[in-house]
Amino acid sequence: MAALLLLVVLAAAATAGAVSATTVAYNDRALVIDGERRIIISGSIHYPRSTPEMWPGLIKKAKEGGLNAIDTYVFWNGHEPRQRQYNFEENYDIVRFFKEIQNAGMYAILRIGPYICGEWNYGGLPAWLRDIPGMQFRMHNEPFEREMETFTTLIVNKMKDASMFAGQGGPIILSQIENEYGNIMGKMNNNQSASEYIHWCADMANKQNVGVPWIMCQQDDDVPHNVINTCNGFYCHDWFPNRTGIPKIWTENWTGWFKAWDKPDFHRSAEDIAFAVAMFFQKRGSVQNYYMYHGGTNFGRTSGGPYITTSYDYDAPLDEYGNIRQPKYGHLKDLHNVLKSMEKILVYGEYNDTSYGKNITVTKYTFGGSSACFINNQFDDRDVNLTLGGATHLVPAWSVSILPDCKTVAFNTAKIKTQTSVMVKKPNTVEKEPEALEWSWMPENLKPFMTDEHGNFRKTQLLEQISTSTDQSDYLWYRTSLEHKGEGSYTLYVNTTGHEIYAFVNGKLVGQNHSANGAFVFQLESPVNLHAGKNYISLLSGTVGLKNYGPLFELMPAGIVGGPVKLIGANNGTAIDLTNSSWSYKAGLAGEYRQIHLDKPGYKWRSHNGSIPVNRPFTWYKTTFDAPAGEEAVVVDLLGLNKGAAWVNGNSLGRYWPSYTASDMDGCHICDYRGKFKAEGDGVRCLTGCGEPSQRYYHVPRSFLRAGQPNTLVLFEEAGGDPTRAVFRTVAVGTVCVAAAEEGDDVTLSCGQHGRVVSSVDVATFGVTRGHCGAYEGGCESKAALEAFTAACVGKESCTVRYTGAFAGAGCESGVLTVQTTC
Ligand code: GAL
Repeated sequence: MAALLLLVVLAAAATAGAVSATTVAYNDRALVIDGERRIIISGSIHYPRSTPEMWPGLIKKAKEGGLNAIDTYVFWNGHEPRQRQYNFEENYDIVRFFKEIQNAGMYAILRIGPYICGEWNYGGLPAWLRDIPGMQFRMHNEPFEREMETFTTLIVNKMKDASMFAGQGGPIILSQIENEYGNIMGKMNNNQSASEYIHWCADMANKQNVGVPWIMCQQDDDVPHNVINTCNGFYCHDWFPNRTGIPKIWTENWTGWFKAWDKPDFHRSAEDIAFAVAMFFQKRGSVQNYYMYHGGTNFGRTSGGPYITTSYDYDAPLDEYGNIRQPKYGHLKDLHNVLKSMEKILVYGEYNDTSYGKNITVTKYTFGGSSACFINNQFDDRDVNLTLGGATHLVPAWSVSILPDCKTVAFNTAKIKTQTSVMVKKPNTVEKEPEALEWSWMPENLKPFMTDEHGNFRKTQLLEQISTSTDQSDYLWYRTSLEHKGEGSYTLYVNTTGHEIYAFVNGKLVGQNHSANGAFVFQLESPVNLHAGKNYISLLSGTVGLKNYGPLFELMPAGIVGGPVKLIGANNGTAIDLTNSSWSYKAGLAGEYRQIHLDKPGYKWRSHNGSIPVNRPFTWYKTTFDAPAGEEAVVVDLLGLNKGAAWVNGNSLGRYWPSYTASDMDGCHICDYRGKFKAEGDGVRCLTGCGEPSQRYYHVPRSFLRAGQPNTLVLFEEAGGDPTRAVFRTVAVGTVCVAAAEEGDDVTLSCGQHGRVVSSVDVATFGVTRGHCGAYEGGCESKAALEAFTAACVGKESCTVRYTGAFAGAGCESGVLTVQTTC
């Protein structure tokens, strides 16, 4: 066994006073914290994807879910939106977030990156970096390394100043530099520079003297000697670190998947996640992080991709709004409890793996005279019986049984004992009915952009959008003019690299279009009429989040870069090529400069007896509403709107695009947890929401709302939509079920934490054959069980009933019991 590598504890720890320093070392089995080998079960919660008011609740739920650590990336372009202008306020108050983790008595993993991927705009890198001469992202060059080191040092110092590292008595036990560089390293245009860069990253990180180990995820080749390489993926049991003496760490166990505007919802089953986790710990894993434990919301313009939705729900154990997602949360909690009870034996024990044919492995850990066993069955279609120490155990297909004493199965990953909760969007009890929401409107002032005057600069070239606008807005105007003899009918052709475009000729909107997701290059084709004399062509290009992944991702262009832009005569085919005309550039919209979303006094909102124009592109809308009563999460349903952005009381809810429909992919409507989960390519399964708007509900965090006062919703609708159908809802537990109770089980049902109670017990049936929570079919109803659950549950927030032999009889053969209640 490799020698214990003791790390230097920060000198600051000695002076820290009241809080005691924690030492973090490691060996080939585990992190060694204060001299003890530990299991770390962590979950990612990204602080900017929720609000400071939500943080304590999210962290508390994570702890109650059996986690002992919280992990987050650091969001460079959120913290440094302009060079050397920093933002550490509100949901970017990173120190406050880490203090909340500390207050909860949990460990923390600080993944600085600062390239972070994360479906975040530009992978977290500020677009202004591009303006620095000689800059090449994520390669060995002075400009990039200087900026990366400056930011990394800033974050490290902030954390040190707040005594957040373990050696200072703080929660941080691990820190990360770069992110998945190994995945793209061989595809950069200069292998030597890439190699020098990743070694420079490790050296620069180690120079920071943080007193805790540095990790690098997905860096399996050319691994710097001074970092621990770690695994990301849906499964990491078969993966091992590159050298001995370092523990097996899983930095990203993907609990679901992200969503794009054209995609349905991905679901990764609780059974499959539990299976993957159990196998990881079976095979010597000791540090595991769920990516994501809470996904949250891409407020503002933070989503990347391009085309990642505003919701970053991720099908995580805590949903976008912070509600417990059942059965995922509870099933994993049950697993964590069993694993924690085995902590010592797993990290100190001797181990022995025995294969029973191709897909079955039994692992026995022994320590101090006791033993613990795992049995895994990796067949995706075959349950197996396995005899261990005289007893025979049925291990269902694609599952792991855990026997903490090698005799009794304490947990099987395919047997869910926790309730399933079906969440519903409830009408708002305080709000006026939707018809009664009074709307006013204001046109976006396009006038200044309908000529080619007053641009920021001119160029006889069609420029790339991101470098021209530095991504300070989604929008960039390209404007030019031409003299024409007499009248003429033409077709305007604009070649663009995306993501969307609006074309105006002489002040009139003549065409609009957007790219398909993935294939961002497209051509706009619009019939236009020119008049005699000077004609103005104004093209507005819009981006929907910047690319965040891939080799040289930052070079993927956007906008009308290079064009061509042409007019072709409708009758005679004459071509007027405008590509090299004098183009005048202006980033952003007038309403953005005026900050209409802040609804300042003096803005001239219009309303003619409550009637407003609908399906009118480039229109601002405003309404006031009462905050829904209670504490349940609030959403606004924007069905009927087209594409734009929304704010409540000046706080961004993010981009909206409810007119974008999720495609009907293979894998819609089919769901089986057995077999390898995938989010791309063949074999994708368990998708929902196919053929529906990919996102119609937008989270309005409670802290954005003011109780007992009017609240303002402002929409900027760019493509033309109808706001009058918009309505506020609260998110609540609707139906709750337990589907696989066995005799002797204590069956717990809960309607959540916000005072909602069970209103009725609807099903208490043996041997249900089909259906799902809310719609079960078959089986034999147990009168005794129904009465017992009704007596114990109705009127209560939660209740527990033991399944006893008394539930049988009345013509029913007892067996697996299904219970369903309405909240
Ligand atoms: C990983 C990456 C994460 C995130 C994830 C997918 O490859 O490290 O940042 O993008 O994929 O959600």
